[in-house]
Amino acid sequence: MRLWGGRFEGGPADALTRLSVSVQFDWRLAPYDLMASRAHARVLHRAGLLTDDELGRMIGALDDLEEACKAGRFRPTVADEDVHTALERGLLERLGTLGGKLRAGRSRNDQVATDFRLYLRDHVRTIVSRLVDLQTALMSQAERHVDTVAPGMTHLQHAQPVSLGHQLLVHVHSISRDIERFKDWDRRAAVCPLGSGALAGSSLPLDPRAVAAELGFDAASPNSMDAVSDRDFAAEFLFAAALTGVHLSRLGEEIVLWASQEFRWIEMDDAYSTGSSIMPQKKNPDVAELARGKSGRLVGNLMSLLTTLKGLALTYNRDLQEDKEPVFDSVDTLLLVLPAVAGLVSTMRVNVSKVEASAPDGFALATDLAELLVRKGVPFREAHEAVGHLVVWCQVNDKDFEDLTDEELIKVSPHFTPDSREVLSVPGAIAARKAYGGTAPDRVREQLVSLRVAVDGYAEWASGN
Ligand code: ARG
Repeated sequence: MRLWGGRFEGGPADALTRLSVSVQFDWRLAPYDLMASRAHARVLHRAGLLTDDELGRMIGALDDLEEACKAGRFRPTVADEDVHTALERGLLERLGTLGGKLRAGRSRNDQVATDFRLYLRDHVRTIVSRLVDLQTALMSQAERHVDTVAPGMTHLQHAQPVSLGHQLLVHVHSISRDIERFKDWDRRAAVCPLGSGALAGSSLPLDPRAVAAELGFDAASPNSMDAVSDRDFAAEFLFAAALTGVHLSRLGEEIVLWASQEFRWIEMDDAYSTGSSIMPQKKNPDVAELARGKSGRLVGNLMSLLTTLKGLALTYNRDLQEDKEPVFDSVDTLLLVLPAVAGLVSTMRVNVSKVEASAPDGFALATDLAELLVRKGVPFREAHEAVGHLVVWCQVNDKDFEDLTDEELIKVSPHFTPDSREVLSVPGAIAARKAYGGTAPDRVREQLVSLRVAVDGYAEWASGN
């Protein structure tokens, strides 16, 4: 069963058929192809190309075919070149010659572009729901640990103490940006190619704008040639998915570190960790590692499609069939990874005493000491020097800031009066960072309140409201 062949005398070579067939992966577009077919049938009816009775039978057959697909009673065969071919076969089986009327004014070029957009707009909403689940898990942990003090790091070295809640919320913000990108993407993807035919539009009196509205698009494509060549929506989706993957890899890396013997900040739940086949003691962070590792294929899928698109002549070229697998793979990958990461995050237990004990390590309060001097009028340059000397003195004498006597302080610099010690408190240092965006617990609690409002909005968007 082929949708072409009238002008061919011989049949296709097996090697061509094997190269050309896409039904093994594009079959997942079937529900969207049927949806678009119903809209197309209605537009043919309004154009006077289908009678009332023919439209009724056509819609009935499309509905029946959809049921049969869902129940697995209708399946594509190796002889179907693609999803469009398979479904036309299903229609012909149900309607006989009437089934052959639906293809009027339509080409697989505008059909596949429409199906693909419908599929992606639908799945982007599912992806956003799973992202919201991960945000919710991160926010619950953050809420529990607003007052847990942790060593904040730069260069993976202790830098300044922070609220652990503040650190956890970083990932909620990056995911919010991912979601905003998907929402923004959706506005640009909401343009319907159906009615563009092979490339030039149709001589039949179709109504592309009515079809677009029926399929939930905001507009019909204003240029039929652009409509069948454009895959920006697929490339843009892949970029948003790749960056989401990069964010998941950074969260994954943090969790790998936190679960290590050196950090021991968290204990992973048994349900979200794995063992070793040889070392009985092992408990490994495979979920976090796979989240980190799978970012590779998400980035690769973007590169793959951009490379396919580069230099393509207008309009449709068969190269464009290569658009689907990277996109399907990125959708599948995100939907596979996100629930596991959300489960890992929501079930991990923070080892509060261990995290807090290491918060002041590495002279993490050095900046606070320097800023105290600044408040007393010492130029920051001098204060920075003085505290630097104090750090060296402590290292040589194997002491921490808290262990210093008044005499020792003064000896290093006359700026260090006994009251200097007042700023040497981790909770004090955190509470002092109370300007907007800072790590002070009050600010973190406010951050949580506004994030919850935003995340509720994302959940609503994803559910179609
Ligand atoms: N399977 C094809 C694709 O995904 C459908 C469009 C075929 N169009 C064509 N002119 N051969 O691109």
